[in-house]
Amino acid sequence: MGVFHSTGGQDPAGHEQVVFCQDRHTGLKAIIGIYSTALGPALGGTRFYPYPSEEAALSDVLDLSRGMAYKNALAGLDLGGGKGVIWGDPELGKSEALLRAYGRFVQSLGGRYYTACDVGTYVADMDVIARETRFVTGRSVEHGGAGDSSVLTAWGVFQGMRAAAEHVWGSPTLAGRRVGVAGLGKVGKHLAAHLLDDGASVVATDVNESALRWARETYPQVDLVADTAALIAADIDVYAPCALGGALDDDTVAVLRAKVVTGGANNQLAHPGIDKMLADRGILYTPDYVVNAGGVIQVADEIEGFNFERAKLRATRIFDTTREILRLADAEGVPPAAAADRLAERRMAEVGRLRTIHLS
Ligand SMILES: NC(=O)c1ccc[n+]([C@@H]2O[C@H](COP(=O)([O-])OP(=O)(O)OC[C@H]3O[C@@H](n4cnc5c(N)ncnc54)[C@H](O)[C@@H]3O)[C@@H](O)[C@H]2O)c1
Repeated sequence: MGVFHSTGGQDPAGHEQVVFCQDRHTGLKAIIGIYSTALGPALGGTRFYPYPSEEAALSDVLDLSRGMAYKNALAGLDLGGGKGVIWGDPELGKSEALLRAYGRFVQSLGGRYYTACDVGTYVADMDVIARETRFVTGRSVEHGGAGDSSVLTAWGVFQGMRAAAEHVWGSPTLAGRRVGVAGLGKVGKHLAAHLLDDGASVVATDVNESALRWARETYPQVDLVADTAALIAADIDVYAPCALGGALDDDTVAVLRAKVVTGGANNQLAHPGIDKMLADRGILYTPDYVVNAGGVIQVADEIEGFNFERAKLRATRIFDTTREILRLADAEGVPPAAAADRLAERRMAEVGRLRTIHLS
């Protein structure tokens, strides 16, 4: 196991701590990245993924842990940002012993890092990891966990969309608007329900036949189109990417007819220049990591002993945060993604600085 700490700014990504973990018997190879604990213990899920190389795993954990610091800061949590990656095939390599070995490494950090689910890890895995560490959240309901996080993720996305609607059309409602939802998975389904309740009309697409069947049976008033290309070319007011990352690329932005983009998917911008392209076309983009923070708000709440109403109230505040970001973007003449980053950095600096006030 190798460990290095950041050395006063020489680490270009600015991480506080990166821990390499290995257990030869179970085949565990993991890296835990802690970007910042300025606001509290670092929280972020563990991704179990067959990376092509150790460099690829390291690069991913550095990016993801930094992203979590920004997300948690803007979600108003007293938590910093971290992430774990397990380098391996979750289908073939996962075992009780491997997960428990990982749990012991998490425990060894003494609470500087809390783990949770991510791609390739599930609630049941967190229950196994929890047999070795207290610093795990996103557990099953039987073990005091909060269950499916997509409920509050979708609620938060809806709040962000309401703030965008207010900014563009003057009123915080989607009533009378046409919203295109790409991906009717866990998040997309709940989001479609909120939109219909609010009086919006919904047009949607999915590659999965069972998701489409669900829509036909549950919400026959939802219009279904063949694919995402048809959705973005449709006459929609809002585009809600709720499938995979990279939904907003050069080709999509060039033809998009919506005036607002707000969705649950992670990493929607295919490259950093896209937010400026969107702004130049007069399309308002609410940063993905701001509006999809309902899930992390839920798992963070679980650390205190889960209370759905309290967590929902926190997710509802995504409306205020989005509104503040959009105002800051206008005031400073920058795209909303840049404004969000500035606000997150400000909170990490201002609140993080309070640690310098000595308490005996
Ligand atoms: N679930 C959460 O709490 C949560 C929290 C934060 C962010 N997110 C992000 O939100 C997104 C959706 O998450 P989810 O939990 O709903 O996942 P999910 O797997 O339940 O749903 C994704 C849906 O997208 C569909 N899809 C995939 N490719 C598509 C394509 N090309 N065109 C149309 N549909 C396509 C899938 O068939 C599936 O129905 C992901 O990017 C995820 O990382 C989820």
